[in-house]
Amino acid sequence: MHSDSATSTAHLPIGVFDSGVGGLTVLRALKKALPHEDFLYLGDTARLPYGTKSGATVARYALQTTRVLVDQGIKLLVIACNTASSVALPGLAEAYPGLPVVGVIEPGARACCARAPHGRIAVIATNGTVRGAAYQTAILRHRPEATIATRSTQLFVALAEEGWTHGPEVEAVAERYLAPLMAEFPEGGPDCLVLGCTHFPAMAETIRKVLPEGVCLVDSAETTAESVAEELAERGLLKPRANSGDGSGSVRFFATDDPERFARVGEIFLGTPLAVGDVTLVDL
Ligand code: DGL
Repeated sequence: MHSDSATSTAHLPIGVFDSGVGGLTVLRALKKALPHEDFLYLGDTARLPYGTKSGATVARYALQTTRVLVDQGIKLLVIACNTASSVALPGLAEAYPGLPVVGVIEPGARACCARAPHGRIAVIATNGTVRGAAYQTAILRHRPEATIATRSTQLFVALAEEGWTHGPEVEAVAERYLAPLMAEFPEGGPDCLVLGCTHFPAMAETIRKVLPEGVCLVDSAETTAESVAEELAERGLLKPRANSGDGSGSVRFFATDDPERFARVGEIFLGTPLAVGDVTLVDL
């Protein structure tokens, strides 16, 4: 039996935040795994990128974005941003002791460990995520014998934001970033490459072109959605089906800058149309 307070919060939406629109790849996976749930998504587009900023600044931004979502009423927070997941969890747990928080690093680490038969794992991420070594720490917890190499591929964020995900220029950038990373695995390359940033799934086809055959790509979105589903079930927080209407949940979008750009660029990551009228501008 779950407590009365769990029952009364189960109808609330799940809060999701990211530095911008990239986290919509995580929202897409969440909606697929939990179609009856309602979501609030906040993209801190005014302050993107987080990946080039200091850990202290990103942790402060994460507290501010979370405040907006908590004020609306949420039952669980998903940090869809890898950079924020790598630095903000302790501060959020302290500020909101009762709020379950799921980041993307731990689910991503679990996913790549499961897909690395020889324990050889390459990780690409933003400057901030690489600097904090959060993926290495999480991977080594599951696979202490793993061989891990990481590289910041920060330019991929700007390219994906511009919609530049294919073509010779993008391939040249990918080759320049990834060739030295692959060379760190002399025995036939890594088992897998972790896409440790919200924007990188959009570049997946191009990345695959420059990788040796057999290297699988790991995207944490789906495993994060699985973790959220498990967490909600364990805490008795799944939305009661009687409140689910026709079965599909709602999504409300918030951005800290230009809703028009959020909707236009967001479609690339969400994979479905997004109207500017669906996006509310908020000030932190
Ligand atoms: N959301 C960020 C991440 O996953 C990428 C964009 C940024 O640098 O803000 O790390």
